[in-house]
Amino acid sequence: MLLWKSCHGALSEAFRTDLAEEICSWHRTIPLYRETPLVSLSSLAGNLGVASIHVKDESFRFGLNAFKALGASHAMGSIIARRLGTCLGSLPFPVLTGKEIRERAGEIVWITATDGNHGRGVAWTARCLHQKAVVLLPAHTVPERLKSIEALGARVTMTDLTYDDTVRLAASLARQNGWVLVQDTAWEGYETVPLSIMQGYMTIGIELISQLADLWPSHVFLQAGVGSMAAALAAFLAHVQDHPCPKIIIVEPESADCFYRTAAAHDGRLHNADSMHSIMAGLCCGEPSPLAWDILSKQADAFLTIPDSAAATGMRILGHPLPGDSRIQSGESGAAGLGAFAWIMRNNPEVREALEIDTNARILCISTEGITDPDNYRRIVWDGAYPDV
Ligand SMILES: Cc1ncc(COP(=O)(O)O)c(C=O)c1O
Repeated sequence: MLLWKSCHGALSEAFRTDLAEEICSWHRTIPLYRETPLVSLSSLAGNLGVASIHVKDESFRFGLNAFKALGASHAMGSIIARRLGTCLGSLPFPVLTGKEIRERAGEIVWITATDGNHGRGVAWTARCLHQKAVVLLPAHTVPERLKSIEALGARVTMTDLTYDDTVRLAASLARQNGWVLVQDTAWEGYETVPLSIMQGYMTIGIELISQLADLWPSHVFLQAGVGSMAAALAAFLAHVQDHPCPKIIIVEPESADCFYRTAAAHDGRLHNADSMHSIMAGLCCGEPSPLAWDILSKQADAFLTIPDSAAATGMRILGHPLPGDSRIQSGESGAAGLGAFAWIMRNNPEVREALEIDTNARILCISTEGITDPDNYRRIVWDGAYPDV
């Protein structure tokens, strides 16, 4: 673990609470919108020696088993609104997806690269808009993830590339064909869409404000792939008035540790991971999003890498809770935050001390996905076996 002396620089205006409220109000116009549950695990808190543990269960988001469609829907809606010279707030979802807007906006082909959940969000939004989606997957994506995107009507291709190279391929196909790239990571010259995706994730934060009320967390564990989700929530939390900003702990797989490496090098440059073999498929990204690093370099308090076994323990704890606690179905990347916290409390007293986690600590984790890969879930939870990824 690397304790990061965050410099708490100027907060990005893009993550202001009033903007988050506007975006959440827009998400509420989606007919399938429901607040996702915030689950209190009191027995687990007693067992691990903290005051409270809350887990936000994103498996319920729009029936898509992960949080990602919050970002894709906001970005795609915003692109259409810009094309029509209006703002997204004036286009409630039923209007946005109606015939009139479709005719005015014209036919759009959306393209993205994904390790699963983001592509599902793009394919779902495109289907709601009655438009086409092309989704590229990196090599070795499990068939279940591919099928769940295809089922939403997208044209899905599995490449023989890494995630990061698949992103570059999607960008070049978008340029060649005049398709619209909806990518959840940024690079020089490509910032508007990923920023809009990150802003969409703030709806989780707005829901948390009312759900947590006085039980505001002291420590938040946020898992990172390209870092868009973690950075969006970290920036959002820093803007919330009336509550002190919690300690933000960024969690990555040991083998896809681009933020950890970037923080450790501390040389003003981004550093990539060099191998990406983890059961946490959604977190297997080798290159940090510069937009995310810009925020996390100011807002994060620590960067932590965890072994696959810690995520697997997180899945088991959530799936087989102590008496009195509710069950949460959480996939490999979804359970990384809670898994990291349990790993610290059970195995790493020095990390616990460094993070000042004591009996007064109030812990918040986001279970960012449900069981998105049922075969691997069973292999991990039943057999204790980590598949050869
Ligand atoms: C389930 C899940 N959790 C967390 C993340 C990480 O999000 P980000 O890539 O924005 O860091 C992903 C990314 O795909 C994911 O699928």
